[in-house]
Amino acid sequence: MKEKNSGTWLEGKLKRLSMLEPYTFPELWNAKIEHSEPLIKLDANENYFIPKELISKILREVASEVDLRLYPVAEYKQLTEVLAKKLKVPPESIVMGSGSSQLIDAIIYSFAKPRDKVVSLKPSFSLYRMRSKVHGVKFVEVPLNDDLSMDSESVLKAAGKSGVIFICSPNNPTGNQFPQESVLSIVESFPGLVVLDEAYVDFADFSLITKIIEYQNLVVLRSFSKTYGIAGGRLGYLVANTELAELLRSRVLRPYSVSSVTLRVALKLLENHDTLMPYIEGLKEERKVLQRALNGLSGIEVFDSKTNFILVNVLTDDGSLGDKLASRRIYIRKIGKIFTKGYAYRITVGLPEMNSRLVEELKALI
Ligand SMILES: Cc1ncc(COP(=O)(O)O)c(C=O)c1O
Repeated sequence: MKEKNSGTWLEGKLKRLSMLEPYTFPELWNAKIEHSEPLIKLDANENYFIPKELISKILREVASEVDLRLYPVAEYKQLTEVLAKKLKVPPESIVMGSGSSQLIDAIIYSFAKPRDKVVSLKPSFSLYRMRSKVHGVKFVEVPLNDDLSMDSESVLKAAGKSGVIFICSPNNPTGNQFPQESVLSIVESFPGLVVLDEAYVDFADFSLITKIIEYQNLVVLRSFSKTYGIAGGRLGYLVANTELAELLRSRVLRPYSVSSVTLRVALKLLENHDTLMPYIEGLKEERKVLQRALNGLSGIEVFDSKTNFILVNVLTDDGSLGDKLASRRIYIRKIGKIFTKGYAYRITVGLPEMNSRLVEELKALI
């Protein structure tokens, strides 16, 4: 066997990778899949309200229609055209990706070079920070105000004159949507790129997606994981001015990053939009029920939500509540100490029976 060189180029590279923040696979990653107790997974904002049977039925239809011998060009084009009509934007302004996560990555490595800056809010979606670090880009976080509102002036000040600003609205993990004026004031004053992540917008009140027609420096991100319930299918898209979108599509991503099966499933889900929307309404109703139940518990602060999850702050906790729930096969997302007192968690709005089990356990544990 060849002797290993010490202090080599490869070792240096591996060391750098080992210093990156690991993606925090929930404790769930280690949980037994086969178990007598059902697993209650409320940690990743998946959508249980879109019936599994409906998605399976669509998948069976797609299986007989799609020709997997071919690259997914026709499916990409078809979905883009239908989506463009629905969103009232030009088809050329849409770029598909393997989840919006892939597009977040593509934006960072296409626009933010090591001397540039990526700016986001604190707390917000952790992937902006993690992917910036992977690409060796400086990442700056601007804290939200105590009432979880965004200080647009501070965001602009932190960003300066170039780079990329990520605004997640409605924001993960706080659940609130920032007013149109505060987002647009940033877009109007910032000479760099503003990425507005609208992954949860269908659970909220308004979208700014058509603003991409007015603002050349605005990119809006969307995901099929949340509204349409196909997180496992991995599909997201961005909408931006046609020049920027075309460059990302043809130079950076190419139309092969999403499988023809997923693209076809998404197309059929869009065609079933009117059938699906009552499920989203059902989720919003259940959000109110869960909020009320959580509010009924003592020692826990419950925040308003425009998403499919709820942020809570458990006043006397240090994170051990999440571990105790996990040992009972109930998974919620640990967020950490984001307020002066307590420990925050993000809870996906599950089906009524899942939420009832969670609340029951919380009653016993808090
Ligand atoms: C704000 C936000 N953006 C993007 C994503 C990524 O979604 P996708 O499954 O499309 O990669 C998530 C997933 O949780 C999210 O919370």
